[in-house]
Amino acid sequence: MRKSGSLPPDVTPGGDLFTLIRDLRVERVYVRHDPVTGLDAVIALHDTRRGPALGGVRFRSYTNGNAAIADALRLARAMSYKAALAGIPYGGGKAVMLRPETLPDRAQLFTAMGRFIEELGGRYVAAMDSGTTVDDMEAIARTTDHVTCTRAGGGDPAPYTAFGVRCGIEAAVAERFDGKGIEGLRVVIQGVGHVGHHLARELSQRGVRLWVADVDHDAAERVRNTYGAQIVAPEEIFDIECDVFAPCALGGVIDKAAAVRLKCKVVAGAANNPLTGPEVDAALAARGILYAPDFVINAGGLIAAALGVEGRLMSKIAAIRDTLTAVFHAAHEQRTPPGRAAERMAEETLYGAPIEDPGAHSGAGVA
Ligand code: NAI
Repeated sequence: MRKSGSLPPDVTPGGDLFTLIRDLRVERVYVRHDPVTGLDAVIALHDTRRGPALGGVRFRSYTNGNAAIADALRLARAMSYKAALAGIPYGGGKAVMLRPETLPDRAQLFTAMGRFIEELGGRYVAAMDSGTTVDDMEAIARTTDHVTCTRAGGGDPAPYTAFGVRCGIEAAVAERFDGKGIEGLRVVIQGVGHVGHHLARELSQRGVRLWVADVDHDAAERVRNTYGAQIVAPEEIFDIECDVFAPCALGGVIDKAAAVRLKCKVVAGAANNPLTGPEVDAALAARGILYAPDFVINAGGLIAAALGVEGRLMSKIAAIRDTLTAVFHAAHEQRTPPGRAAERMAEETLYGAPIEDPGAHSGAGVA
């Protein structure tokens, strides 16, 4: 099972949930308490105009219910942006289940979640996310058909996410190093869990030299033993001289101080929301470090959940290369950092024009 990281912040900085709903343009929010199983959950549908809202079910602890709802709202918007740029006929949504301190019957809790999803009549389609497993998706499938990532429905999306991240790293390297390939490059991977482990395989097969860090030492050792990576202490990760830094652990790992410390030319990994804010997007650009926006590069798992295992799947994920290249070129033309350029592209697809009110972005960062 995935490990939950630090608790996400409370509703701040917006303070008020309705302000957040308005700023993020969230379509609907559903909240459920089930007295029988103790399920406390929220489903946020950000935008269903392009299709049903597809997004993961997150299962983790929160400081309080408001923090969980705020997390669902922000993550739901990110899914709309991700689906829009991935070109799949889905909108964006997210479900959050609050993880209780004791968990008497996990399958029963997820079966109750399935009933909640069923009530929405297909407007939300569930997928795996932080804290959930294929078994959880199977439990959800007992009470609703509106679920992916079951055994029959493709299973764990991490290998597809990792494949997309590798394609994205290739695009970013080609952009930053004038058409160069990735063979022989030095890549640092922060976090070798579900996605990071598969990414290490993808990269080592292509002659990349790897450094990895994980707070779970066994996870790092497995990658060292299997792919010949060198292990780095988690606190030294920003000091390693490398070509690519690939964040594949938690969000919010690169703040302004880390942006100054990093000794790489490209930041490209799976982690959602790896930058603490738009100012870091700008700080990286100012240092000549090319940032591959999270919701573009990590869309492989979403594309797999949307399309299922079919013939076109890998080529559709590989198209992340072209989308990222288009983002880099737009950033260059607009003289804006790539994170913002990607948001503008998604907003053009969703709303016909970019949202120019900076208030709609501050604190509402794509996660
Ligand atoms: P995971 O929980 O399986 O792996 C994360 C790894 O990071 C764990 O091994 C954990 O021990 C390690 N870690 C935690 N804190 C760390 C730190 N400070 N330094 C170094 N290592 C640390 O999660 P998963 O599924 O691999 O996802 C990784 C990231 O990619 C997350 O941010 C997730 O939201 C994002 N993502 C994952 C997708 C998927 O298909 N699984 C899809 C899109 C985004």
